[in-house]
Amino acid sequence: MQVPSDKNTVHTQMKNLTVINNPLIKRDITYLRDEETKEYQFRLALKRIAYILASEVSKNFELTEISVKTPLEVTIGHKVKKDIILVPILRAGLSLVEAFIEMIPYAKVGHIGLQRDEKTFQPVEYYYKAPKNLGASTVIILDPMLATGGSASVATQFLKGRGASEIIMASLIAAPEGVNKMEQEHPNVKIYTAQLDRELNASAYIVPGLGDAGDRTFGTL
Ligand code: PRP
Ligand code: URA
Repeated sequence: MQVPSDKNTVHTQMKNLTVINNPLIKRDITYLRDEETKEYQFRLALKRIAYILASEVSKNFELTEISVKTPLEVTIGHKVKKDIILVPILRAGLSLVEAFIEMIPYAKVGHIGLQRDEKTFQPVEYYYKAPKNLGASTVIILDPMLATGGSASVATQFLKGRGASEIIMASLIAAPEGVNKMEQEHPNVKIYTAQLDRELNASAYIVPGLGDAGDRTFGTL
C-alpha cells in the first residue's frame, strides 16, 4: 500500500484549539484509523489516548493551597478549586468517560443524548441529565468526533442555558469545519483534540478519520 503524504494532518493556529503532540497518540490514532482494528482493540487504544487527553485538559484546573501533615511535618498541598463535571455526548462520548474518571475520580458525570440526522447532519436531542452545580464547575464535554461541530455546539448551548460558564471540549479527532463553528459560536470554549484531520466529506464524515466512532466502539457497524 502506498503511504499517503501527511497532508491529512492539518497544522494550524486556531485560537481556541490545542492539538496534543504526543508520539503515543500518533501510534494509537493509527490503530483507530485502521479499518481492521477490532472493537476491543479500538476501545483500548481510545482509552489510552483519553488518559493523555485528560492529563492535558487538567493543565487548566485552578488550584487552592491547603495544608497537609506528612509523617514528618505539616507542608503545603493543593486541591483543585472547582468541581469537575464530565459531560459525554451519547453515545460515542461514553468511550472517553472511564479514563477521565480514573484520572479525576471525584468528577461528576452528566449525559447529553444527541444523534445526527442522517440527511441534514443536524443533531437531534434525545436525553439530558446533569448535576445541578454547572455554574460553579469546570464542565468538560467529551465526544471523540468534532465533525461539523453541530453536536458540540448544541451541547454547549444546552449547558450554557443551564448555567455552565467554564466549558472545555475534549475530542479525539476534529475537523477544521467543526473547530471553526465552535470558535464562531462559542469563542470561550477551549478545544482539546488528539488529531486535527483534513476536512469533511460529502456525508459530513471526517477524512481520513476513523469512520463512525460510536459504531466502531460498540460494534454496531
Ligand atoms: C457522532 C459523534 C458526535 C457527532 C459529531 O455521533 O459521536 O456526537 O457524530 O458530528 P457533528 O460534529 O457533525 O455533530 P453520532 O450522531 O454518530 O451518534 P452516536 O454517538 O450515537 O454514534
Ligand atoms: N461522527 C463520527 O462518528 N465520525 C465522523 O467522521 C463524523 C461524525
